[in-house]
Amino acid sequence: MPGSRIIEEADSLLADGPTVSHTSSRHWRFHGAALIAGLCMLAALVYVGRRPSFSAPERGQAVSQEKPGRQMNLDAVGGLLVAGQQPPPTILTANAAAPTLLQADPPNSLLKKAAAMEKSNPAGPSPLEKEYVLGQHANPKEKEASEQEKAPGPPDAGPLKKKDAEESKSKSCKTATPGDTCYKAVLWAKWIGLIEHPTWYPGLKRATANRMAIQEWLHNNSQGDCHRPCDHETYPIPPSGKGKPSLFCFSVARMGPEMDTMFMQRQMGAGIFACDGHAVYSDTHVNIDGFKTTLIPSTASGVSTDKTAANSQVFMNTWNNLLTTTKWYEYDFIAKVDPDCVFFPARLRGHVHSYVGQNVFFLNCGKYVPATMYGALEVYSKSSLGAYLSAHPRCETSFPFGAWGEDKYMTNCLEMLGCKSVVDFGNFLHDERCWGVDCGNKQAVAFHAFKQVNQWYNCWLLSNHHGF
Ligand SMILES: *[C@@H]1O[C@H](CO)[C@@H](O)[C@H](O)[C@H]1NC(C)=O
Repeated sequence: MPGSRIIEEADSLLADGPTVSHTSSRHWRFHGAALIAGLCMLAALVYVGRRPSFSAPERGQAVSQEKPGRQMNLDAVGGLLVAGQQPPPTILTANAAAPTLLQADPPNSLLKKAAAMEKSNPAGPSPLEKEYVLGQHANPKEKEASEQEKAPGPPDAGPLKKKDAEESKSKSCKTATPGDTCYKAVLWAKWIGLIEHPTWYPGLKRATANRMAIQEWLHNNSQGDCHRPCDHETYPIPPSGKGKPSLFCFSVARMGPEMDTMFMQRQMGAGIFACDGHAVYSDTHVNIDGFKTTLIPSTASGVSTDKTAANSQVFMNTWNNLLTTTKWYEYDFIAKVDPDCVFFPARLRGHVHSYVGQNVFFLNCGKYVPATMYGALEVYSKSSLGAYLSAHPRCETSFPFGAWGEDKYMTNCLEMLGCKSVVDFGNFLHDERCWGVDCGNKQAVAFHAFKQVNQWYNCWLLSNHHGF
């Protein structure tokens, strides 16, 4: 059901008043100032030595202006796309083939549902449907155990025995924790099931169903290995990722589908929330399940500009705020990730680890000459951003950032400042404007663009699901 879109979610967009912590930002401003002074001196020494030319040739990059047309150069794609793979809409539709027969199903008839799935879809339910809707496991032993648990009781079970079991079950409660089958089932229902198959969940409404209610519904309907959730508990959130090299990742997200993907990433512990550190910039205060967004600093002048210029200004302000108020300098690499970019930070580490400590940033599209950086995923080393921080006014007077778009501007600016651009387009960013997108690829760092949450989640599952 593409195009479905929610603004408010009981469990998602309950902003709880002004949330920016001024004390902590002041605190970091102090440390930031000391660090900036140090970086400035260092950068000054470097530049005196290098004397970079101010007349760096303009790159043949037209990222922002480029139409998102489908000029996929399939010859050039070579080994990147597996032969016969389709662009994402096809993959997603095939995956989401919804057996419409199920609409009239009574909610509890798990077996009927499975049979119907198999009947309507000759290939049987997809592995994802099996795991997330039917709660089956790849491991046959686990599968047996879980089916016994879920079965409404053997036909010869006496009524007393059955009643006892039900009573003790209803008394015990267990809110799912990250990693549980039930936790995955709840998220799948929330971000895919209720969007693509609302009729599978009689009594649940996408707009109001939070994860607690979804878990209770799954429990009531013997799905997803779910216990009854414990009331008045906060639904748990997976911990941040940890790894080397360390990554600080941020997104600029507007309310609507973009903010929805932030909630989803937070609840999954995926995307930017799988980085060691993260920030979300928005034009409204939002509490993303306990993680507070930072307000995008507004433009000082009220001059109205065209869309690209306004967008570039938003990012310029965001960069300046990020570099002066966050702890970005405690991380080896900093990644700017668009909300519609399906991003796997752990895979990024493999691409950047040999550049720790170097003054580099990454060009992620090699379709054109020279290679370009697409803004869906921008990766910078700590020292390249240090160079930007200490010298960005030079870029502002040298390049028309408003006309260019932020990604092209940053590329030219950092090259002028003497940062080395590393061309990496082997399984780095799969972008529909570059060489196309294949979510079935299990190595690529990122896939772009997936604006709707269910599309984002589906792509993540396709790339992430082992043995699928
Ligand atoms: C689950 O079942 C209980 C008891 O029958 C009922 O009160 C509750 O509303 C149900 N919850 C959902 C989400 O369907």
